[in-house]
Amino acid sequence: MSEAAKPEGERRKFRAIKGTRDILPPDSALWNWFEKTARGVMESYNFGEIRTPIFEETELFARSIGAETDVVSKEMFAWDEGGTGVESELQEYWISKHLDELTKMDRQPIFANRARPDLVVRRSDGVSVVEFKRATVSQATIADIKQYRKVFQEQFPNETSAKLLLVFAEEPSDFVRHLTNANGVEVEVLELPEYEPRQSLALRPEATASVCRAYIEHGMQMRPGDQKLYYIGPMFRRERPQKGRYRQFYQIGAEVLGTSDAPAIDAELIQMLTVLLERCQIEKYTLLINSIGCADCRPKYVELLRAELRKPEIFSKLGADSQRRVETNPLRVMDSKLPEEQAIIEKLPKISEHLCADCREHYDKLKKELKLREVPFTESPRLVRGLDYYMRTTFEITSPILGAQNALCGGGRYDGLVEMLGGPKGIKGIGFALGEDRFIDAIQEAKKIHATRPVDVFVAWMGERAYPTAVRLARVLRGEKHTVELPPEELKFRKALERADKMGARYVLIIGEDEIASDMLTIKRLADGKQEKISEEALVDFFRPPAPTKEGPGS
Ligand code: HAM
Repeated sequence: MSEAAKPEGERRKFRAIKGTRDILPPDSALWNWFEKTARGVMESYNFGEIRTPIFEETELFARSIGAETDVVSKEMFAWDEGGTGVESELQEYWISKHLDELTKMDRQPIFANRARPDLVVRRSDGVSVVEFKRATVSQATIADIKQYRKVFQEQFPNETSAKLLLVFAEEPSDFVRHLTNANGVEVEVLELPEYEPRQSLALRPEATASVCRAYIEHGMQMRPGDQKLYYIGPMFRRERPQKGRYRQFYQIGAEVLGTSDAPAIDAELIQMLTVLLERCQIEKYTLLINSIGCADCRPKYVELLRAELRKPEIFSKLGADSQRRVETNPLRVMDSKLPEEQAIIEKLPKISEHLCADCREHYDKLKKELKLREVPFTESPRLVRGLDYYMRTTFEITSPILGAQNALCGGGRYDGLVEMLGGPKGIKGIGFALGEDRFIDAIQEAKKIHATRPVDVFVAWMGERAYPTAVRLARVLRGEKHTVELPPEELKFRKALERADKMGARYVLIIGEDEIASDMLTIKRLADGKQEKISEEALVDFFRPPAPTKEGPGS
């Protein structure tokens, strides 16, 4: 039976998707207060807001954040534009065009599935699975590879020497090459008939890549001075949900893009964060800083690190992910969270001890600039950050009041990124993003700020004659920026008072038969029950200056 046809109580109810959540009043008032405060702080440092789409080409994230990072290789919500219908159509079209060609190539089709037109062909050197599809960089690619393996093993249980072959329509990206190589899959490129390329799209896991994309797309380097941009919005990562870690979470971030890499820029940005922490009255936090070098000194360090990690006594103690990363990206081993790897990581060579003269100078100046601004910091030589685009300055702010997910925010310098994304040469960048969900937790834990949105005036109207006056006056007061609750139906006086009290209203404006007859309104202050009569003309003045701040911090 369809859900809709079931009796009312038995219909399946919907729940928010795992790792996502609803933010309800009164909590949303604190979120609004925080966003307003953050905007205020960032605007006082002359940052302007940028809004970018929440989805972009998958390749944008793969190229900037790095294919080997957890964020890209495991956590992206990506999909192929066009959907499966179009995909199958294209595949069938391709098969019909290419069957001949394949046969000529001594590849006899022996298995074809029309729903998923994967084709298994026999070759002289074993059995291969051929997939007709554009090379896409997505979670789907990983899932596909696993799926091919399964079909392959079911079809040819005795073929031990068999090869798995993926045929892509275009040169596969480095990411796909790496993925397939790591899975022992051969990749071949065939020419495709003409059709519009289908794109792999992804929900943004972060916004730095998008900001750089927008910077390039709009030629923002032509604008005068450094571009100082901030953003507020949801990000998406398929992480294992737990307290402080969500699949849809919110970030507030800021980026500075321009031709200068003066350490004062880094220090200003970090100081701005500490001002925000101060406004939120979060006192328990640590600012960790590090420098991870540049294109000159980092490769040498990475080689040193790789050599160290390859040593059998170290390699054998690493988990599978880290073992793989020894070859692909050894720096990523540094941010492993595996408890059993921590002692090994502590003893590895530290990047801060292998910086070139320029990077060392930049780092020393940064520390001076922070001291000048009286921003206390702790140096953390292990802080390499989980995204590949960083160089030189990296930083994080952690707070012990948060528990396991203790990073309130993170950031760093990414001087080569704009160029790597096809933008102009010589553009430098630095930025951070803070986890809004975690900031809100920290504010609540600190118990210093309690943002609420109280009702200023509850309009208790009684009788048909009072109603038009109530509607009119509610509008007048709302025009004066007061929060006004106007009951849609008449309430008995006692009931109206009860409801106003439950809502935490400050005043009740009473409009009954008597008030209409006498042309005078009654105002009752709920805190002490004090009541007074005023004329309609005096009403606006009575509430001026406006009732105490809404959404403001209260101590
Ligand atoms: P990130 O360290 O990946 O950096 O994230 C920044 C902050 O977002 C984290 O410190 C954390 O507070 C929050 N966050 C990350 N993942 C989650 C999650 N699953 N649930 C809740 N909060 C989370 C970046 O995203 C870089 N784009 C920062 C940056 C900007 N670097 C330069 N510019």
